[in-house]
Amino acid sequence: MSAHTESDVLVIGSGIAGLAAALAAAREGADVTVATKATRPEGSASWWAQGGIAVARDDPEQFKRDVLAASDGTADPDAVDVLVENANDAVEDVLLETLDVAFDEAQGDFDFGREAAHSADRILHVDASTGKHVHVPFLNYLDDHDGVRIRDDTAALELIRHEGRAHGAVLESDGEFAPHFAGSVVLATGGIGDLYPRSTNPAGSTGDGIAMAALAGAEVTDMEYVQFHPTVCVANDSPFLVSEAVRGEGAVLRNGEGERFMPDYHEDAELAPRDVVARAVQTERDATGEVLLDVRPLDFAGAFPDLVEKCEDHGVDWETGIPVVPAEHFCCGGIDVDDRGRTSLDRLYAVGECSRTGVHGANRLASTSLLEGLVWGLRAGADAAGTDAEVVEAPELLERDPELPDRFAAEKFRRLRRVMDEYVGLERDPEDLGRAMAVLRRLKGEVDAYTRTRTSRSLYELRSASVTALLIARQAAANDESVGCHHLAESPSTDAESDAPEPRADD
Ligand code: SIN
Repeated sequence: MSAHTESDVLVIGSGIAGLAAALAAAREGADVTVATKATRPEGSASWWAQGGIAVARDDPEQFKRDVLAASDGTADPDAVDVLVENANDAVEDVLLETLDVAFDEAQGDFDFGREAAHSADRILHVDASTGKHVHVPFLNYLDDHDGVRIRDDTAALELIRHEGRAHGAVLESDGEFAPHFAGSVVLATGGIGDLYPRSTNPAGSTGDGIAMAALAGAEVTDMEYVQFHPTVCVANDSPFLVSEAVRGEGAVLRNGEGERFMPDYHEDAELAPRDVVARAVQTERDATGEVLLDVRPLDFAGAFPDLVEKCEDHGVDWETGIPVVPAEHFCCGGIDVDDRGRTSLDRLYAVGECSRTGVHGANRLASTSLLEGLVWGLRAGADAAGTDAEVVEAPELLERDPELPDRFAAEKFRRLRRVMDEYVGLERDPEDLGRAMAVLRRLKGEVDAYTRTRTSRSLYELRSASVTALLIARQAAANDESVGCHHLAESPSTDAESDAPEPRADD
């Protein structure tokens, strides 16, 4: 192990939530380190955000009703109050005044967009590439900010925990490990896309923060609510998101027989809650072979030039319809936090997608993830400042021996994704969840044994993925109510964990 480093606040992850936490802590005078696996700029999920960032405008109550309705009434109303009451100020302060983001305008005002399950136009956006227009200036601003140091391509492998408190993390950079001690740790590690074969997340979304927090004893809940985005184009094996904003502007979904089907599934048709649309797309694909997003009802080229470019780059003839499938998009559950991002472990915070604030319940409303990250990031960062780092005993990691663990990890990742896709996807069956748990428990056992003898980033990513996958499968099996993103194929159910069926031979 190399020599240790220290700061007042260690932020792990560099999406909008982590950067907001770093900004708020630095504004309080804290010395902040941001350690991020991401390489710039596209390594972070925030960079990929298309649709935009919702604000309350002059009606927070209406915004709140939409968030609650999209969640099927399962979101926590107090958490939603925090979101809607702080939305306008947080956006004004950070995105407009500090970063000067040039959101699209129309007729002398912002060009507020609309997406599924919103009852008003309230989404600020820059074309359909909002994420990069927020994320890049945010990184640049913090690069020049006193007291903030961003360490790219640096992974957190283990939390340092001592007497029930978080004291930092063991960081890996260029194959070297070193403890980093901090007064507080803010987890902002993003999502879980690498657990599924198709996802809108960037590579490396392996649930690291969720797994590290769970292994350190923090509460993790609502993990069964994995949101699949209904319109992901998979041409040439390289998936890209086709924003819900396109349906907001009038695009319709047609099945392989050319029929528009969404009105048969929900009164809001293409603008129904995301889980409803995703399942309908899958059902129609299974029945008719394909689903196309028909963009002829709108001026697609005029409204979404960046998506036109993407289609052309991928060889998709958008004028005859964009072929779409559902793909993993967002983890609505995560590390349980309060209204300031505090977890159940002292001096450990979580913000953004790896956290569970209660805002999303069983299904997230479109364009609320950047907002949640911003609001909770600011609150957590301000709260996390003010405690000095303390040097305590850190976990010893074994020297790196990259080749073997990297090969082992690649092979086991394939198995993990197959299990998650087959058994813990859009639609779940209690018996399949039992199968998934059996396979994942075995996999985690193999990974644990391996980490006792070797260390590499890929091995720790696999460990994070297997812990997180097991949490999803276990919490899905324990929930016998079909709601939001957790949809049971059959009426439930006996206790799937205690009555786990044998895995199939090819598992
Ligand atoms: C999209 O642009 O469709 C994604 C927006 C979101 O997930 O909030």
